Amino acid sequence: MSTGLAVGIHDLSFATTEFVLPHLELAGHTGADPAKYHVGLGQRSMSIAAADEDIVTMAASAAAPLVARWGADRIRTVVLATETSIDQSKAAGVYVHSLLGLSPAARVVELKQACYSATAAVQFALGLVHRNPGQLVLVIATDVSRYDPDSPGEATQGAAAVAMLVGADPVLLRVEEPSGLSTVDVMDFWRPNYRSTALVAGRESVTAYLQALEGVWKDYTEQGGRPLGDFRAFCYHQPFTKMAHKAHRHLLGFTGNVVDEDRIAAMLALTTAYNEVVGNSYTASVYLALASLLDHADDLDGEAIAIASYGSGSVAEFFGVTAVPGYREHLRTEEHRRAVERRRPIDFAAYRELQAHALPVDGGHHPLPRQTTGDYRLAALSGHKRVYERR
Ligand code: HMG
Repeated sequence: MSTGLAVGIHDLSFATTEFVLPHLELAGHTGADPAKYHVGLGQRSMSIAAADEDIVTMAASAAAPLVARWGADRIRTVVLATETSIDQSKAAGVYVHSLLGLSPAARVVELKQACYSATAAVQFALGLVHRNPGQLVLVIATDVSRYDPDSPGEATQGAAAVAMLVGADPVLLRVEEPSGLSTVDVMDFWRPNYRSTALVAGRESVTAYLQALEGVWKDYTEQGGRPLGDFRAFCYHQPFTKMAHKAHRHLLGFTGNVVDEDRIAAMLALTTAYNEVVGNSYTASVYLALASLLDHADDLDGEAIAIASYGSGSVAEFFGVTAVPGYREHLRTEEHRRAVERRRPIDFAAYRELQAHALPVDGGHHPLPRQTTGDYRLAALSGHKRVYERR
Protein backbone atom coordinates (compact mmCIF):
# COMPACT_ATOMS: atom_id res chain seq x y z
CA MET A 1 0.00 0.00 0.00
CA SER A 2 1.46 3.35 -0.97
CA THR A 3 0.79 6.26 1.40
CA GLY A 4 2.28 8.86 -0.92
CA LEU A 5 5.03 9.54 1.62
CA ALA A 6 8.47 9.88 -0.05
CA VAL A 7 10.89 7.59 1.77
CA GLY A 8 14.43 6.60 1.02
CA ILE A 9 18.12 7.13 1.65
CA HIS A 10 18.92 10.40 3.32
CA ASP A 11 22.69 10.00 3.59
CA LEU A 12 25.30 7.38 2.74
CA SER A 13 28.89 6.99 3.87
CA PHE A 14 31.44 4.21 3.64
CA ALA A 15 34.59 3.14 5.43
CA THR A 16 37.13 0.45 4.72
CA THR A 17 40.27 -0.95 6.30
CA GLU A 18 43.76 0.17 7.31
CA PHE A 19 45.58 -2.02 4.79
CA VAL A 20 45.37 -2.84 1.10
CA LEU A 21 46.89 -5.69 -0.91
CA PRO A 22 47.41 -4.89 -4.61
CA HIS A 23 46.53 -7.76 -6.95
CA LEU A 24 49.89 -7.27 -8.64
CA GLU A 25 51.49 -8.32 -5.33
CA LEU A 26 49.11 -11.30 -5.05
CA ALA A 27 49.92 -12.36 -8.62
CA GLY A 28 53.65 -12.35 -7.76
CA HIS A 29 52.95 -15.17 -5.31
CA THR A 30 50.13 -17.14 -6.91
CA GLY A 31 51.88 -17.15 -10.28
CA ALA A 32 48.67 -15.96 -11.97
CA ASP A 33 48.87 -13.59 -14.91
CA PRO A 34 47.99 -10.18 -13.37
CA ALA A 35 45.60 -9.69 -16.30
CA LYS A 36 43.46 -12.51 -14.91
CA TYR A 37 42.82 -10.35 -11.84
CA HIS A 38 42.78 -6.95 -13.54
CA VAL A 39 40.81 -7.91 -16.64
CA GLY A 40 39.27 -11.33 -15.94
CA LEU A 41 37.93 -10.48 -12.49
CA GLY A 42 38.08 -6.69 -12.76
CA GLN A 43 39.96 -6.27 -9.47
CA ARG A 44 43.00 -4.06 -8.76
CA SER A 45 43.42 -4.44 -5.00
CA MET A 46 41.64 -5.64 -1.88
CA SER A 47 41.10 -4.09 1.54
CA ILE A 48 42.64 -6.09 4.40
CA ALA A 49 41.59 -5.54 8.01
CA ALA A 50 44.26 -4.79 10.62
CA ALA A 51 44.45 -7.10 13.65
CA ASP A 52 42.51 -4.48 15.65
CA GLU A 53 39.79 -3.86 13.04
CA ASP A 54 36.56 -5.76 12.47
CA ILE A 55 32.98 -5.27 11.32
CA VAL A 56 32.26 -3.06 14.36
CA THR A 57 35.17 -0.65 13.87
CA MET A 58 34.37 -0.31 10.15
CA ALA A 59 30.65 0.14 10.90
CA ALA A 60 31.32 2.86 13.48
CA SER A 61 33.71 4.64 11.08
CA ALA A 62 31.12 4.54 8.29
CA ALA A 63 28.23 5.71 10.49
CA ALA A 64 29.96 8.42 12.58
CA PRO A 65 29.83 11.07 9.79
CA LEU A 66 26.07 10.51 9.43
CA VAL A 67 25.49 11.09 13.13
CA ALA A 68 27.79 14.13 13.02
CA ARG A 69 25.75 15.66 10.18
CA TRP A 70 22.18 14.80 11.20
CA GLY A 71 22.44 14.30 14.98
CA ALA A 72 21.50 11.24 17.00
CA ASP A 73 18.09 12.37 18.28
CA ARG A 74 15.92 10.91 15.52
CA ILE A 75 17.73 7.56 15.26
CA ARG A 76 15.47 5.10 17.07
CA THR A 77 16.55 1.97 15.19
CA VAL A 78 19.90 0.55 14.12
CA VAL A 79 19.89 -2.42 11.75
CA LEU A 80 23.31 -3.93 11.09
CA ALA A 81 23.59 -6.38 8.20
CA THR A 82 26.55 -8.75 8.13
CA GLU A 83 27.68 -12.27 7.40
CA THR A 84 30.89 -11.77 9.42
CA SER A 85 29.08 -12.01 12.72
CA ILE A 86 31.28 -11.76 15.82
CA ASP A 87 28.83 -13.24 18.32
CA GLN A 88 26.06 -15.83 18.12
CA SER A 89 23.89 -13.86 20.52
CA LYS A 90 24.73 -10.19 20.91
CA ALA A 91 24.09 -7.96 17.89
CA ALA A 92 27.26 -6.25 16.64
CA GLY A 93 25.18 -3.09 16.24
CA VAL A 94 24.96 -2.73 20.02
CA TYR A 95 28.72 -2.06 20.15
CA VAL A 96 28.32 0.44 17.30
CA HIS A 97 25.40 2.11 19.08
CA SER A 98 27.63 2.52 22.13
CA LEU A 99 30.68 3.78 20.21
CA LEU A 100 28.51 6.39 18.46
CA GLY A 101 26.83 7.51 21.68
CA LEU A 102 23.30 6.91 20.36
CA SER A 103 20.26 7.27 22.60
CA PRO A 104 19.38 4.30 24.85
CA ALA A 105 15.80 4.78 23.61
CA ALA A 106 16.54 2.76 20.47
CA ARG A 107 16.21 -0.77 19.10
CA VAL A 108 19.26 -2.51 17.63
CA VAL A 109 19.25 -5.76 15.68
CA GLU A 110 21.49 -7.77 13.33
CA LEU A 111 20.37 -9.31 10.03
CA LYS A 112 21.93 -12.14 8.03
CA GLN A 113 21.43 -13.62 4.57
CA ALA A 114 24.81 -13.65 2.85
CA CYS A 115 25.38 -10.54 0.74
CA TYR A 116 21.66 -9.76 0.48
CA SER A 117 20.76 -8.76 4.05
CA ALA A 118 21.57 -5.05 3.74
CA THR A 119 18.77 -4.79 1.22
CA ALA A 120 16.38 -6.48 3.65
CA ALA A 121 17.60 -3.94 6.24
CA VAL A 122 16.80 -1.03 3.90
CA GLN A 123 13.34 -2.42 3.14
CA PHE A 124 12.54 -3.08 6.81
CA ALA A 125 13.77 0.42 7.63
CA LEU A 126 11.38 1.89 5.05
CA GLY A 127 8.52 0.08 6.78
CA LEU A 128 9.50 1.59 10.13
CA VAL A 129 9.69 5.06 8.57
CA HIS A 130 6.19 4.61 7.14
CA ARG A 131 4.97 3.87 10.70
CA ASN A 132 6.79 6.86 12.16
CA PRO A 133 7.95 9.34 9.50
CA GLY A 134 9.74 11.43 12.12
CA GLN A 135 12.38 8.78 12.78
CA LEU A 136 15.60 7.97 10.97
CA VAL A 137 16.77 4.37 10.76
CA LEU A 138 20.51 3.76 10.71
CA VAL A 139 21.24 0.85 8.36
CA ILE A 140 24.81 -0.45 8.29
CA ALA A 141 26.19 -3.12 5.96
CA THR A 142 29.60 -4.32 7.16
CA ASP A 143 31.66 -7.35 6.19
CA VAL A 144 35.10 -8.86 5.86
CA SER A 145 35.24 -11.35 2.99
CA ARG A 146 37.60 -14.30 3.54
CA TYR A 147 38.34 -17.44 1.55
CA ASP A 148 40.91 -20.16 2.08
CA PRO A 149 44.49 -19.29 1.12
CA ASP A 150 45.36 -20.44 -2.41
CA SER A 151 41.69 -21.04 -3.28
CA PRO A 152 40.18 -19.38 -6.39
CA GLY A 153 38.16 -17.13 -4.09
CA GLU A 154 41.28 -15.64 -2.47
CA ALA A 155 41.58 -12.98 -5.17
CA THR A 156 38.00 -11.84 -4.49
CA GLN A 157 38.41 -10.92 -0.81
CA GLY A 158 37.85 -7.43 0.59
CA ALA A 159 36.22 -5.51 3.42
CA ALA A 160 34.08 -2.39 3.89
CA ALA A 161 31.09 -0.92 5.67
CA VAL A 162 28.39 1.28 4.18
CA ALA A 163 26.15 3.25 6.54
CA MET A 164 22.86 4.73 5.37
CA LEU A 165 20.21 6.84 7.05
CA VAL A 166 16.75 5.82 5.89
CA GLY A 167 14.00 8.36 6.42
CA ALA A 168 11.09 10.39 5.04
CA ASP A 169 11.68 13.14 2.46
CA PRO A 170 15.22 11.90 1.76
CA VAL A 171 17.73 14.29 0.25
CA LEU A 172 19.65 11.63 -1.73
CA LEU A 173 17.44 8.85 -3.10
CA ARG A 174 13.76 7.94 -3.04
CA VAL A 175 13.24 4.20 -2.88
CA GLU A 176 10.49 3.05 -5.22
CA GLU A 177 7.98 0.26 -5.09
CA PRO A 178 7.70 -2.48 -6.21
CA SER A 179 10.56 -4.85 -5.56
CA GLY A 180 11.19 -8.05 -7.50
CA LEU A 181 12.07 -10.93 -5.18
CA SER A 182 13.65 -14.38 -5.45
CA THR A 183 14.55 -17.08 -2.94
CA VAL A 184 16.06 -20.40 -4.07
CA ASP A 185 17.62 -23.04 -1.81
CA VAL A 186 21.06 -23.45 -3.42
CA MET A 187 24.49 -24.28 -1.94
CA ASP A 188 26.65 -21.92 -3.97
CA PHE A 189 28.43 -20.25 -1.05
CA TRP A 190 28.09 -20.76 2.70
CA ARG A 191 30.06 -20.61 5.96
CA PRO A 192 29.23 -23.11 8.72
CA ASN A 193 29.55 -21.74 12.27
CA TYR A 194 32.82 -23.58 12.87
CA ARG A 195 34.63 -21.96 9.93
CA SER A 196 36.21 -18.52 9.57
CA THR A 197 36.40 -18.76 5.79
CA ALA A 198 33.61 -19.33 3.30
CA LEU A 199 33.06 -22.44 1.24
CA VAL A 200 32.10 -21.77 -2.35
CA ALA A 201 31.20 -23.57 -5.54
CA GLY A 202 32.75 -20.80 -7.67
CA ARG A 203 31.39 -21.33 -11.17
CA GLU A 204 28.01 -22.56 -9.86
CA SER A 205 27.77 -19.42 -7.76
CA VAL A 206 28.05 -17.29 -10.88
CA THR A 207 25.25 -19.27 -12.52
CA ALA A 208 23.11 -19.09 -9.35
CA TYR A 209 23.56 -15.29 -9.31
CA LEU A 210 22.47 -14.99 -12.96
CA GLN A 211 19.46 -17.25 -12.43
CA ALA A 212 18.40 -15.21 -9.40
CA LEU A 213 18.67 -12.07 -11.54
CA GLU A 214 16.24 -13.60 -14.02
CA GLY A 215 13.94 -14.47 -11.12
CA VAL A 216 13.90 -10.97 -9.64
CA TRP A 217 13.43 -9.29 -13.00
CA LYS A 218 10.48 -11.57 -13.81
CA ASP A 219 8.88 -10.81 -10.44
CA TYR A 220 9.67 -7.08 -10.72
CA THR A 221 7.88 -6.97 -14.07
CA GLU A 222 4.90 -8.96 -12.76
CA GLN A 223 4.65 -6.56 -9.82
CA GLY A 224 4.31 -3.63 -12.25
CA GLY A 225 7.89 -2.35 -12.20
CA ARG A 226 9.44 0.05 -14.69
CA PRO A 227 10.53 -1.07 -18.17
CA LEU A 228 14.28 -1.74 -18.39
CA GLY A 229 14.86 1.28 -20.63
CA ASP A 230 13.68 3.65 -17.88
CA PHE A 231 16.80 3.05 -15.81
CA ARG A 232 19.74 5.38 -16.34
CA ALA A 233 22.11 3.15 -14.35
CA PHE A 234 22.32 -0.31 -12.79
CA CYS A 235 24.06 -1.09 -9.50
CA TYR A 236 24.79 -4.79 -9.08
CA HIS A 237 26.18 -6.79 -6.20
CA GLN A 238 29.88 -7.00 -7.16
CA PRO A 239 31.73 -10.00 -5.65
CA PHE A 240 34.28 -9.00 -8.31
CA THR A 241 33.47 -6.18 -10.66
CA LYS A 242 33.36 -8.29 -13.84
CA MET A 243 30.35 -10.00 -12.25
CA ALA A 244 28.41 -6.78 -12.84
CA HIS A 245 29.27 -7.04 -16.55
CA LYS A 246 28.13 -10.67 -16.66
CA ALA A 247 24.92 -9.69 -14.88
CA HIS A 248 24.06 -6.73 -17.08
CA ARG A 249 24.87 -8.64 -20.26
CA HIS A 250 22.61 -11.43 -19.02
CA LEU A 251 19.77 -9.05 -18.10
CA LEU A 252 19.92 -7.33 -21.51
CA GLY A 253 20.06 -10.69 -23.27
CA PHE A 254 17.13 -12.41 -21.62
CA THR A 255 14.93 -9.32 -21.87
CA GLY A 256 15.59 -9.22 -25.63
CA ASN A 257 17.67 -6.02 -25.58
CA VAL A 258 20.74 -5.29 -27.68
CA VAL A 259 23.95 -6.33 -25.89
CA ASP A 260 26.46 -3.59 -26.70
CA GLU A 261 29.70 -4.29 -24.79
CA ASP A 262 31.01 -0.72 -25.10
CA ARG A 263 27.81 0.75 -23.68
CA ILE A 264 27.78 -1.82 -20.87
CA ALA A 265 31.40 -0.99 -20.00
CA ALA A 266 30.81 2.77 -20.06
CA MET A 267 27.70 2.57 -17.91
CA LEU A 268 29.06 0.11 -15.35
CA ALA A 269 32.43 1.85 -14.95
CA LEU A 270 30.73 4.52 -12.84
CA THR A 271 29.53 1.84 -10.40
CA THR A 272 32.72 -0.21 -10.09
CA ALA A 273 35.30 2.42 -9.08
CA TYR A 274 35.22 1.58 -5.36
CA ASN A 275 34.63 -2.18 -5.55
CA GLU A 276 37.55 -2.75 -7.92
CA VAL A 277 39.98 -1.40 -5.29
CA VAL A 278 38.15 -2.58 -2.14
CA GLY A 279 37.17 -6.13 -3.19
CA ASN A 280 34.11 -8.06 -2.12
CA SER A 281 32.52 -6.41 0.89
CA TYR A 282 29.57 -8.84 0.82
CA THR A 283 26.50 -6.99 2.23
CA ALA A 284 28.10 -3.62 1.55
CA SER A 285 29.07 -4.34 -2.05
CA VAL A 286 25.92 -3.25 -3.91
CA TYR A 287 25.72 -0.06 -1.81
CA LEU A 288 29.39 0.61 -2.50
CA ALA A 289 28.43 0.37 -6.18
CA LEU A 290 25.69 2.92 -5.49
CA ALA A 291 28.17 5.20 -3.68
CA SER A 292 30.53 4.94 -6.63
CA LEU A 293 27.76 5.84 -9.08
CA LEU A 294 26.61 8.85 -7.07
CA ASP A 295 30.19 10.08 -6.58
CA HIS A 296 31.23 9.66 -10.22
CA ALA A 297 28.15 10.33 -12.40
CA ASP A 298 27.76 13.86 -13.78
CA ASP A 299 24.14 14.47 -12.89
CA LEU A 300 21.42 11.99 -12.03
CA ASP A 301 18.78 14.50 -10.83
CA GLY A 302 15.39 12.81 -11.15
CA GLU A 303 16.87 9.72 -12.83
CA ALA A 304 15.90 6.14 -12.02
CA ILE A 305 18.68 3.81 -10.84
CA ALA A 306 18.27 0.03 -10.56
CA ILE A 307 19.60 -1.85 -7.54
CA ALA A 308 20.19 -5.59 -8.00
CA SER A 309 21.05 -7.24 -4.70
CA TYR A 310 22.17 -10.90 -4.49
CA GLY A 311 23.13 -13.05 -1.54
CA SER A 312 24.23 -16.64 -1.98
CA GLY A 313 22.06 -19.35 -0.66
CA SER A 314 20.13 -17.54 -2.23
CA VAL A 315 17.97 -14.45 -1.84
CA ALA A 316 17.86 -11.60 -4.35
CA GLU A 317 15.93 -8.37 -4.81
CA PHE A 318 15.61 -5.85 -7.64
CA PHE A 319 14.19 -2.37 -7.07
CA GLY A 320 14.46 1.19 -8.30
CA VAL A 321 15.60 4.36 -6.60
CA THR A 322 15.27 7.92 -7.93
CA ALA A 323 17.96 10.53 -7.39
CA VAL A 324 16.43 13.53 -5.59
CA PRO A 325 17.15 16.81 -7.44
CA GLY A 326 20.03 18.53 -5.66
CA TYR A 327 21.37 15.24 -4.21
CA ARG A 328 24.92 16.15 -5.20
CA GLU A 329 25.12 18.80 -2.49
CA HIS A 330 24.90 16.02 0.10
CA LEU A 331 27.50 13.59 -1.26
CA ARG A 332 30.67 12.61 0.56
CA THR A 333 32.88 12.11 -2.48
CA GLU A 334 36.00 13.62 -0.90
CA GLU A 335 35.66 11.57 2.32
CA HIS A 336 35.18 8.42 0.22
CA ARG A 337 38.29 9.17 -1.81
CA ARG A 338 40.23 9.59 1.44
CA ALA A 339 38.88 6.31 2.85
CA VAL A 340 40.31 4.49 -0.16
CA GLU A 341 43.57 6.44 -0.40
CA ARG A 342 44.49 6.37 3.31
CA ARG A 343 44.97 2.58 3.20
CA ARG A 344 48.56 1.41 3.60
CA PRO A 345 49.79 -1.12 1.02
CA ILE A 346 51.15 -4.35 2.50
CA ASP A 347 53.20 -7.11 0.94
CA PHE A 348 52.15 -10.72 0.52
CA ALA A 349 53.90 -11.93 3.71
CA ALA A 350 52.21 -9.27 5.87
CA TYR A 351 48.84 -10.09 4.27
CA ARG A 352 49.19 -13.81 4.97
CA GLU A 353 50.24 -13.06 8.55
CA LEU A 354 47.10 -10.96 9.09
CA GLN A 355 44.92 -13.66 7.53
CA ALA A 356 46.44 -16.28 9.84
CA HIS A 357 45.82 -14.08 12.91
CA ALA A 358 43.07 -15.64 15.03
CA LEU A 359 41.61 -14.17 18.21
CA PRO A 360 42.49 -16.15 21.35
CA VAL A 361 39.66 -18.28 22.74
CA ASP A 362 40.94 -18.96 26.29
CA GLY A 363 39.07 -16.13 28.04
CA GLY A 364 42.28 -14.41 29.21
CA HIS A 365 43.13 -10.73 28.86
CA HIS A 366 44.61 -10.19 25.41
CA PRO A 367 45.43 -6.66 24.26
CA LEU A 368 45.54 -6.50 20.46
CA PRO A 369 48.44 -4.95 18.54
CA ARG A 370 47.84 -1.29 17.77
CA GLN A 371 47.77 -1.28 13.97
CA THR A 372 44.86 0.79 12.77
CA THR A 373 45.15 4.57 12.56
CA GLY A 374 41.36 4.83 12.27
CA ASP A 375 38.99 6.36 14.80
CA TYR A 376 37.83 3.07 16.32
CA ARG A 377 39.72 -0.06 17.27
CA LEU A 378 39.24 -3.43 18.88
CA ALA A 379 41.61 -2.89 21.79
CA ALA A 380 41.44 -6.26 23.53
CA LEU A 381 39.66 -9.50 24.10
CA SER A 382 39.18 -9.93 27.80
CA GLY A 383 37.14 -12.52 29.66
CA HIS A 384 35.63 -13.51 26.29
CA LYS A 385 34.46 -9.88 25.87
CA ARG A 386 35.42 -7.60 23.01
CA VAL A 387 36.77 -4.27 24.23
CA TYR A 388 36.46 -1.42 21.74
CA GLU A 389 37.94 2.03 22.05
CA ARG A 390 37.56 5.34 20.32
CA ARG A 391 40.63 7.40 19.45
P1 HMG B 1 38.96 -18.95 -11.19
O1 HMG B 1 38.83 -20.38 -11.50
O2 HMG B 1 40.13 -18.52 -10.41
O3 HMG B 1 39.00 -18.05 -12.47
O4 HMG B 1 37.62 -18.55 -10.45
P2 HMG B 1 38.60 -18.36 -13.99
O5 HMG B 1 39.54 -19.33 -14.58
O6 HMG B 1 37.11 -18.64 -14.07
O7 HMG B 1 38.91 -16.94 -14.60
C1 HMG B 1 38.19 -15.81 -14.22
C2 HMG B 1 38.04 -14.92 -15.44
O8 HMG B 1 39.34 -14.43 -15.79
C3 HMG B 1 37.54 -15.68 -16.67
O9 HMG B 1 36.71 -14.79 -17.41
C4 HMG B 1 38.81 -15.94 -17.46
O10 HMG B 1 38.60 -16.10 -18.87
C5 HMG B 1 39.58 -14.66 -17.17
P3 HMG B 1 35.19 -15.18 -17.74
O11 HMG B 1 35.22 -16.46 -18.48
O12 HMG B 1 34.52 -15.36 -16.38
O13 HMG B 1 34.68 -14.01 -18.47
N1 HMG B 1 41.02 -14.79 -17.34
C6 HMG B 1 41.78 -13.86 -17.94
N2 HMG B 1 41.47 -12.67 -18.49
C7 HMG B 1 42.50 -11.93 -19.01
N3 HMG B 1 43.78 -12.34 -19.01
C8 HMG B 1 44.13 -13.52 -18.46
C9 HMG B 1 43.12 -14.34 -17.89
N4 HMG B 1 43.09 -15.55 -17.27
C10 HMG B 1 41.81 -15.82 -16.95
N5 HMG B 1 45.42 -13.91 -18.47
C11 HMG B 1 35.79 -17.42 -9.48
C12 HMG B 1 36.84 -17.37 -10.58
C13 HMG B 1 34.90 -16.19 -9.61
C14 HMG B 1 34.96 -18.68 -9.63
C15 HMG B 1 36.54 -17.41 -8.12
O14 HMG B 1 37.23 -16.19 -7.98
C16 HMG B 1 35.63 -17.59 -6.93
O15 HMG B 1 35.33 -18.72 -6.55
N6 HMG B 1 35.21 -16.47 -6.28
C17 HMG B 1 34.32 -16.52 -5.12
C18 HMG B 1 32.87 -16.78 -5.50
C19 HMG B 1 32.24 -15.60 -6.22
O16 HMG B 1 32.69 -14.48 -6.15
N7 HMG B 1 31.09 -15.87 -6.89
C20 HMG B 1 30.33 -14.83 -7.55
C21 HMG B 1 28.84 -15.10 -7.59
S1 HMG B 1 28.15 -15.54 -5.99
C22 HMG B 1 28.04 -14.03 -5.14
O17 HMG B 1 28.17 -12.99 -5.72
C23 HMG B 1 27.82 -14.10 -3.66
C24 HMG B 1 29.04 -13.83 -2.80
O18 HMG B 1 29.34 -12.46 -2.79
C25 HMG B 1 28.79 -14.34 -1.38
C26 HMG B 1 27.57 -13.89 -0.63
O19 HMG B 1 26.50 -13.70 -1.16
O20 HMG B 1 27.69 -13.79 0.59
C27 HMG B 1 30.28 -14.54 -3.32
